[in-house]
Amino acid sequence: MSGSIEHIISKSVKSMVPASVKDTLRKLKPRTRLQKDLELFVLDGIRFTPPLADFPPMVMLDTTTRCNLTCGHCPNSVLSKDAGFLGDMSDEIAHKVLDEIAREAPNTLTRLFDGGEPLVRKDIHKLIRFATERGIRTVSINTNGTMLVKKRRMEIIEAGLQHIEVSLDATTPETFLKIRESPLFDRVVENTLAYVEESKAFNPKNRVTVSFVLQTDNRHEVEAFKSFWEDKVDKVYIREYHQHNNYMDDHGLFKNHGNPDRHPCPFLWDRIIVFHDGRVRFCEFDWKADHAIGDISRQTLKEIWHGEAYRNLRESHVRGTFCHDFCRECTDWRQVNWDGNRKK
Ligand SMILES: C[S@@+](CC[C@H](N)C(=O)[O-])C[C@H]1O[C@@H](n2cnc3c(N)ncnc32)[C@H](O)[C@@H]1O
Ligand code: SF4
Ligand code: SF4
Repeated sequence: MSGSIEHIISKSVKSMVPASVKDTLRKLKPRTRLQKDLELFVLDGIRFTPPLADFPPMVMLDTTTRCNLTCGHCPNSVLSKDAGFLGDMSDEIAHKVLDEIAREAPNTLTRLFDGGEPLVRKDIHKLIRFATERGIRTVSINTNGTMLVKKRRMEIIEAGLQHIEVSLDATTPETFLKIRESPLFDRVVENTLAYVEESKAFNPKNRVTVSFVLQTDNRHEVEAFKSFWEDKVDKVYIREYHQHNNYMDDHGLFKNHGNPDRHPCPFLWDRIIVFHDGRVRFCEFDWKADHAIGDISRQTLKEIWHGEAYRNLRESHVRGTFCHDFCRECTDWRQVNWDGNRKK
């Protein structure tokens, strides 16, 4: 952020405002919202953040944390042994969240997965149908593609799924085996190509993404990956490797602690995640909901989104203190940027 237009403006504003005005601002009571905003602008300087949306632009529902693979780069492979991690979201919780999205903001990007493999659930198409029938416009899943066989493809397409991301990470069976620890490379590619055709035939507006998480063992295949998929799908997404807040090895990449140029994290403005048991997370990397910021069984998403805990958290990012335990220790902030993580 240092050197950006926002940073330069904030520095100039900060230096132009006389000390007496700053003192008065500090002393003003009661502390209104307007006063806080002014303080952020004048005392701390602005940092770039968009206006807060009235409802989270993206909601992720951890429909299941179960998975049929054990990819080496994914915390799921490590955490599936931990008590309380594995579970499926009940219909009651899922329906409550989906009803709220439909009522409040049907344009919300609604992703019916988070830390597991959604197709492990044989009824995932029923949740997709529930969402689309209530008028939610963009329903999306990520999948490892191993179970994306004809029957399942037709179930989810006919239920109205608008977007799918198939995680491939490789262009050869050898690399796929190394990264995804599965011998099913050819099947996943065939499933994906068939999905593109069937899904577009059902609704030409449906979208397909294939993704590739950059790692030591697959870096050499990234260009081949792009050229194979570029003209076959809507988006080829090359994703930076995340350390998932210290769950995974840092690959020597994440020496970011205490960096003065650290920017506010876009996650706090663009998404919210509901864990399978209904606890609500502000960060995808809080895999076990250890830092839950609410609970859907007692609150609405909107209440949580505008609640005091979220407000304080965002403010600490804008002020640059990052004082929340989880964010303070974050090693991924450089990989989570405003340009690259907005929409899938
Ligand atoms: C956790 S998976 C869940 C959905 C599904 N099982 C799949 O593989 O697509 C969602 C995405 O996170 C990615 N992912 C897992 N570990 C990652 C890491 N350390 N860094 C970046 N992306 C990661 C996966 O490759 C996948 O694209
Ligand atoms: S990346 Fe997806 S398929 Fe691989 S272990 Fe994680 S959840 Fe399972
Ligand atoms: S700063 Fe890091 S820990 Fe905090 S919300 Fe963003 S990614 Fe998560």
